[in-house]
Amino acid sequence: MPKTIKNVAVMTSGGDAPGMNAAIRAVVRACAYYDLKCFGYYRGYQGMVENDFVELTPRSVKNIINRGGTILKSARSNDFRTPEGRQKAYDNLKDNEIDAAILIGGDGTFTGGLIFSEEFDIPVVGVPGTIDNDIRGTQFTIGYDTALNTVVDAIDKIRDTASSHNRLFFVEVMGRDAGFIALNSGVGAGAEEILIPEENLGLKKLLESLKRSKRSGKSSSIVIVAEGDKTGKNVFELAEYVKQNLEDYNTRVTVLGHLQRGGSPTCFDRVLASRMGVKAVEFLLDGQRDIMIGIENTKIIATHISEITKGHNQINRELLRISDILSI
Ligand code: F6P
Repeated sequence: MPKTIKNVAVMTSGGDAPGMNAAIRAVVRACAYYDLKCFGYYRGYQGMVENDFVELTPRSVKNIINRGGTILKSARSNDFRTPEGRQKAYDNLKDNEIDAAILIGGDGTFTGGLIFSEEFDIPVVGVPGTIDNDIRGTQFTIGYDTALNTVVDAIDKIRDTASSHNRLFFVEVMGRDAGFIALNSGVGAGAEEILIPEENLGLKKLLESLKRSKRSGKSSSIVIVAEGDKTGKNVFELAEYVKQNLEDYNTRVTVLGHLQRGGSPTCFDRVLASRMGVKAVEFLLDGQRDIMIGIENTKIIATHISEITKGHNQINRELLRISDILSI
């Protein structure tokens, strides 16, 4: 017999992503629609451990659908990793008569949620929010589309100055373990070469590719480097290496960093967050627990968290081939 749900907790955890506010808004308003109370916990699990929360009504989430960041703040909680921390969180939730929790974040967030739900009787539903797009069980995560557009806009600007000065730019983008941002922004912005964690291009091939670009008459070039690329050199070392080996290249480096995590969400991310937030509440009311909401071929789906945390979303290798052909 599924638990009767009356009071729902919502929180954002891990790296923030544009569209998290739109997801919070959707959860809060869907709760109100179904006559449930909704409580926002600040700084992810840390807010549960410290009992730092606020009751959220439909009017508390006005004018946030367009705002980047998260009104509930985000954090990675060390206390929640310990059994004592989780016990504290549970005691607080119980005192506040919370019946279930909606977790907006990445796979680390969901792993913690599953442990919590198995230790104590608090059903959880995950909503994937990360710019990295590397979560299994969904084709798209909230924030990814916005980050991609931010990166493409930045590369377009870099291209202007690169071409004015006949320079080779190395642009580092986020993605410690995943090349989604690098690969898709690279194809979208017409980069000459894309270095991602999933595929080690190798330094020799990089030099060959840049020589090929010169031979074909290109006067400027852009190389996109994901944070976690596997050449064994960071972006500054890479630029230096190329300078040492290809003397006629005038190189510069831009690290885009955390600006990729901010900004107003795109319409795609707002709609995705709205759909996922409403469905998270509806799945809970249907008696589902310990699942993550995803989108697959335009349909909203649910997958058990134990499946989600078994691996990562895979990049589309076809895009590497397309990039290679188009950078001729
Ligand atoms: O997980 C999202 C992400 O933005 C990664 O792409 C990046 O490697 C990491 O977070 C950076 O984390 P922090 O904000 O802790 O430096």
